[in-house]
Amino acid sequence: MHNWSTELALTYHEETKHSYDSLYRSRHFLDWANQPRPFKLYPGLEAIPLPADLPVTQVPALLAMSHPSETTVTTPLPTLHDLAYVLLYAAGVTRRRVYPGHGEMLFRAAACTGALYHIDLYLTVCDLPGLRAGLYHFDPHDFALCQLRQGDYRHVLVEASGNDPALQEAPVIVIVGDTFWRNSWKYRARAYRHSFWDAGTILANLLAAARVRTLPAHLTLGFADAPVNALLDVDTNREVALCLVGLGAAAPLLAAAPPVEPLHLEVAPLSSEEHDYPAIRIMHAASSLESPEDAAEWRGVALETPFSPATGDLFPLCPDAVDRLPPAALEDVIRRRGSTRQFAHQPLSLTQLSNVLVRATQPIPADCLAAPGTRFNDLYLIVNAVADLPSGAYVFHPQEQALELLRPGDFRLQAGALALGQELAADASVAVFCLCDLLAVLEGFGNRGYRATQLEAGILGGRMYLAAYAQGFGASGLTFFDDDVTAFFSPHAADKSVMFLIALGYAARHRRSADAASGTS
Ligand SMILES: Cc1cc2nc3c(=O)[nH]c(=O)nc-3n(C[C@H](O)[C@H](O)[C@H](O)COP(=O)(O)O)c2cc1C
Repeated sequence: MHNWSTELALTYHEETKHSYDSLYRSRHFLDWANQPRPFKLYPGLEAIPLPADLPVTQVPALLAMSHPSETTVTTPLPTLHDLAYVLLYAAGVTRRRVYPGHGEMLFRAAACTGALYHIDLYLTVCDLPGLRAGLYHFDPHDFALCQLRQGDYRHVLVEASGNDPALQEAPVIVIVGDTFWRNSWKYRARAYRHSFWDAGTILANLLAAARVRTLPAHLTLGFADAPVNALLDVDTNREVALCLVGLGAAAPLLAAAPPVEPLHLEVAPLSSEEHDYPAIRIMHAASSLESPEDAAEWRGVALETPFSPATGDLFPLCPDAVDRLPPAALEDVIRRRGSTRQFAHQPLSLTQLSNVLVRATQPIPADCLAAPGTRFNDLYLIVNAVADLPSGAYVFHPQEQALELLRPGDFRLQAGALALGQELAADASVAVFCLCDLLAVLEGFGNRGYRATQLEAGILGGRMYLAAYAQGFGASGLTFFDDDVTAFFSPHAADKSVMFLIALGYAARHRRSADAASGTS
């Protein structure tokens, strides 16, 4: 079975690293005339409009990212309004901007590499108030659902997952799908990493939005791939299912699903031609699970990644108490969110940074993270400007809820250099890197662990975006020179692989307006 041929994941990761060499040797250029459309469209299907009169809940975004024990969760059957809320704030269009000569650009609720929006959400539902049982595609462009199949197909997904208990009574199972070409057009084979980064930022939003609507939500990464892709009826060389999300509770399964026949639906072409990046297909096949039994076995794995005790100075986090969190409501935060394009050198407070780290690392409800102590990524930081925290390189100790100073110093220049020479990381107050012990992950979870690690990193990053905007400052995901980052944080991070980078800080615009307000500009 491929999942245990873990040299395939190591090869993929190695071959898609950024280095000075790979970047400057590259002859790749962007063929703008062939840019893929950022929406999947089914021209022959009727759109079922989603309600626009969505509830304004005012639930603080930071609370929405909290562990379930910190909020009240009931178990209602979701309404169409609940689904509309979750879909809008996970993956809907939240901002429009006109670029003279280029037309209108539709930005989405969650950050996405290159704004290419290659992730689609599908819903498999039983009969719900306002929605008949079926398989639906969410169309963010028209804020609508398109019905692909009629009938209750949840059984297919539960079976594919090897009867994951978290899916068994979920009235809604979201399938997170990815169309490779929509991102590989720009990023080539590295786009397979982006599959999970960009699914992860959406899932961070989705989990928070579900919490606000008091819908239990749970991620399932272990499933036999073929039956799930067959349900979507996608050409798996181009589009695949990445993850399932059980939403809601108390909706027992029917004894069986209707048969899964091919759909023969027309899908609008993405661009005049599509290029194939075999490394993506190979890595996806290598991390596929063949049977429900494989999925059930995969889910049971625990990953012990011992953290060496701190040897450097420890700085305890000082987050706000749960009942005193900044009050910005989730819906406002997501509508305001956008990647910061220029950071000011204005410092964050240690409480602000603590809130980001504490909220981002709240447990993620997921099959592969269920065993106590299991986590894939460790957080390493370059602190440029945080009050009461010396500038330098740090690692986050989750048990102690503290930052260990690995190396003091002003590392703004290095931060920018590690982020492919992008000033965003140099100017930001903090750059947070997710690193993992890839060999340990692959030993425990096989190649499928690679998907899980990238996805966890994307969710952590997505939560950091929300936690930043909830506190009035900004964030931007960034790409990086892989081996240079590992070298920078070594020896502590020796042998670890970089999965994600996000920069945090006030937008430069913010400082100008703050200066103007105080009469200093
Ligand atoms: C994982 C990730 C990596 C990103 N990398 C970069 C980057 O290297 N440079 C950059 O300027 N923006 C980067 N971005 C920001 C995206 O360009 C941005 O999310 C996208 O244009 C959509 O805009 P919005 O976030 O303002 O909605 C990244 C975003 C994500 C989620």
